[in-house]
Amino acid sequence: MLIAGNWKLNCNIAEANNLTNNLLSNFDGKNLNCDIAIFPPYTALSEVSKLVKSSTINIGAQDCSLELKGAYTGDVSAEMLIDLGCKYVILGHSERRMLRNETSENVLQKVKNAQNVGLIPIVCVGESERDRVEGRAIDVIVNQLEKSLPSENNNSNSIIAYEPVWAIGTGKIPTIDTIKEMFSVIKGWLLNKYKVNNIKILYGGSVNKGNVTEIFSCKDVGGLLIGGVSLKAKEFSEICLNI
Ligand code: PGA
Repeated sequence: MLIAGNWKLNCNIAEANNLTNNLLSNFDGKNLNCDIAIFPPYTALSEVSKLVKSSTINIGAQDCSLELKGAYTGDVSAEMLIDLGCKYVILGHSERRMLRNETSENVLQKVKNAQNVGLIPIVCVGESERDRVEGRAIDVIVNQLEKSLPSENNNSNSIIAYEPVWAIGTGKIPTIDTIKEMFSVIKGWLLNKYKVNNIKILYGGSVNKGNVTEIFSCKDVGGLLIGGVSLKAKEFSEICLNI
């Protein structure tokens, strides 16, 4: 079980340190039944990395470059993230696919870059509200899986996150039947493609402490990718401690 906190474009260094220290003290001496990863903005990774060293919290980045090295002003490579102490990188988040025009082909290149240096990509897939209303939700996520994932993959070098776009930051979550259906599609696709059935699949989109139990009633849910609530140390910690 992995509980991942995506901080997005939030937190200066002081705020990031404060949030991290609050999490560390909430988890101190507690028995945790899940892995925890936080995803601060690039600018805070170095400081947060030092704080979480030798703790139960891992860190990751919210994206990485398509490129490995060279004249790509503004980019941050997968290798640089390893250097900072990252274990994970979120790739293909819908905010990048939609607002930054990132294609599944771009995501695939980034996944390869991440895996080549030993970073675990958390590859996001999810349908828009329109896709769902018009009956294409399954086709859309299968297409994203097909184009965003490499030909070889195993349970230790990748994680998938199902995040319906219409559930992100809206307070709406899919019904449990929809979650079950989408997870079974993803699980079936992974099994067929890679012949393994234990690649972790996270759910993301408006997760809070009030809906976690319902989400986990789908047994295929292998963890959570949490946005807004990951900025609230108390609620995020409660979710982790209740697993
Ligand atoms: P949310 O974001 O929890 O604020 O809906 C989830 C995400 O974007 O990963």
